[in-house]
Amino acid sequence: MKKVIVTGGCGFIGSHTVVELQQKGYTVVIADDLSNSTPSVVENIGRITGEKPILEIVDLSDRTACLRFFKVHSDADAVIHFAAAKAVGESVSKPLHYYRNNIGSLLNVLDAMERSSCRTFVFSSSCTVYGQPDHLPVTEQTPRKPACSPYGNTKQVCEDVLADLVASCRTDKGKGGALSGASWKILSLRYFNPIGAHPSALIGELPNGEPNNLMPYITQTAAGIRPLLKVFGNDYPTPDGTPVRDYIHVCDLAEAHVKAMEYMQENGFEGMDCFNLGTGRGYSVLEVIGSFERVTGIKLAYEIAGRRDGDIAQIWADAGKAERLLGWKARRTLDEMTLSAWKWQENLQKKI
Ligand code: WQD
Repeated sequence: MKKVIVTGGCGFIGSHTVVELQQKGYTVVIADDLSNSTPSVVENIGRITGEKPILEIVDLSDRTACLRFFKVHSDADAVIHFAAAKAVGESVSKPLHYYRNNIGSLLNVLDAMERSSCRTFVFSSSCTVYGQPDHLPVTEQTPRKPACSPYGNTKQVCEDVLADLVASCRTDKGKGGALSGASWKILSLRYFNPIGAHPSALIGELPNGEPNNLMPYITQTAAGIRPLLKVFGNDYPTPDGTPVRDYIHVCDLAEAHVKAMEYMQENGFEGMDCFNLGTGRGYSVLEVIGSFERVTGIKLAYEIAGRRDGDIAQIWADAGKAERLLGWKARRTLDEMTLSAWKWQENLQKKI
């Protein structure tokens, strides 16, 4: 297997996955509408790996454009699908955009793949499908909960679309009918909280406008771009009162995608499965701030504010299944995550 299509490959997790794929010898074609990224990401991937991936600017929610793109690249061996809108808060104010874009793009990509011979598909999902779990850590058997945001619901609906697609092939096979194409190989990867940046500091998280997520808000506050960080609530049922999340280095996450894709090519895997991609350890907001201050020597300006709507108190993964089946385990520490995020922010400042 040599050629991989990465949709949303100019994004935060997508760009780090493209680097990992290229460094493992794969040829990568990126399909990205650049709605939340810039072409400079392709230049910087080239500086890291020595080879610029092919970038095709395409809106995958536009069915005609999507089918045209996949017809040109019908020789791909696998697709890793990151392309989606992902701001939880924005999804509450723009639900139609999120359903049309996130679900529409997936349907178009799957339609296009059915017209090719490519049936290996990695889906970028999220731990938001679990809502606030009743028991921790969460395993892949932990029941999904009604999503607390349209964004989270699009991830659940997309997982259901994929499961129904796989079931339809099984049914097809059961009736002795000719398969509607070779059997699908699909993995849904449920990310916890990806943070940090590539050690080169040439790629990293680049939110449009005011960041929603904690880590870029911390680095922009430390850089003087934001006056201070608001810590959304310290009255949660957690050790220090601030919410707990399973933060995972984006490079660990990128490595997991390559392992997942290769896993489907071996062992005669068919059908669909899902994996939690976390470290198995939760950290509170104050612990993340503490790590940042320790590794950078910067005293961060922050204040305790009210809770943010939609936030859950705590979640962290049981990542044992990915270790057992994929041979993957997150290995970078919280300090490596926060320091790499700061190095990336410093490099961004140099370009301004
Ligand atoms: C983390 C903690 C906030 C900003 C994200 C993605 C979601 C999914 C899971 C991939 C929370 C607190 C934040 C700030 C704060 N990932 N915070 N002040 O909400 O866990 O979800 O990871 O699919 O898509 O959005 O991440 O970074 O927004 O928040 O106190 O200015 O930091 O309350 O406790 P979240 P986050």
